[in-house]
Amino acid sequence: MKQATLHQFKVFEAIARSGSFTRAAEELCLTQPTVSQQMKQLTLAVGLPLFEQVGKRLYLTEAGQEVVTACRDISERLSHLEMTLADLKGLKQGNLRLTLVTTAKYFVPRLLGPFRHCYPGIDVSLEIANRQRLLERLSENLDDLYILGQPPEHLEIGLRPFLENALVAIAPHNHPLARAQNIPLQRLAQEPFILREPGSGTRMVVESFFAENRVALNVEMEIDSNEAIKQAIVGGLGVSVLSRHVLALEGITGPLTILDVEGFPIQRQWYVVYPASKHLSVVARTFLEYLLVEGKRLAAQVDLELTPRP
Ligand code: PGA
Repeated sequence: MKQATLHQFKVFEAIARSGSFTRAAEELCLTQPTVSQQMKQLTLAVGLPLFEQVGKRLYLTEAGQEVVTACRDISERLSHLEMTLADLKGLKQGNLRLTLVTTAKYFVPRLLGPFRHCYPGIDVSLEIANRQRLLERLSENLDDLYILGQPPEHLEIGLRPFLENALVAIAPHNHPLARAQNIPLQRLAQEPFILREPGSGTRMVVESFFAENRVALNVEMEIDSNEAIKQAIVGGLGVSVLSRHVLALEGITGPLTILDVEGFPIQRQWYVVYPASKHLSVVARTFLEYLLVEGKRLAAQVDLELTPRP
């Protein structure tokens, strides 16, 4: 292994991630023969094949899996070192990789502006994925921090709640139940219901809430986007239960309203999570602290936006 170079590890990681020599070459601005040559040398150093080609698809061998894990550890260690050295020089600088569940995109990005203003040396890259995809990224250790509403039970994680997450029943403002009070859950369940896709954290909460209350939903349609669900509600396709944060920008003075249903809102929390064994970088710790403080301020602001005006 002493023959292997950092550059070969970088090339190999890009191939493993993109599943293709061509895409890795493009990403790293290398020619394809250079990429092939680097992989030949790395394979020689490892002494075992790293890939298997089945049809057009490239699969990692067991040795390849081990090497890619080591590549990610090494690159993470190096970027931590870079950030720690910058911190010693009195600079908060480096990269922060964040993945958010789709529903958190309604409030986390607005915290990034003031964060970058305080720490201009920190570059943030943001991935948005549903809960299932986020958990896959978490188990592959692809990012620094993850923000989601329903923490996983089967993974060893560090966990910090930072903001309340109320799930509410949403309908068009001219819906017959719009002015009703304390609507029985059974009555809501008679309405055509628009549900998020399998793998969504929102769907998980909604399904278990209705199951716990032994009420069956009348599912009209499944849609994998909060925005499209909002449009479908406005179009009269049905009602839904979503995080109150999805209404944060337009508030409740627009075409959507929150129904007063018994047992609602469903109270949950937003969490920042990371693998328990992960050594958080200076930059990740800085963002975590920021989120714990700013989350409260944001909650107050969102409450204001969602309070009906006289
Ligand atoms: P979702 O997740 O955006 O995948 O529905 C929301 C949540 O984790 O509460």
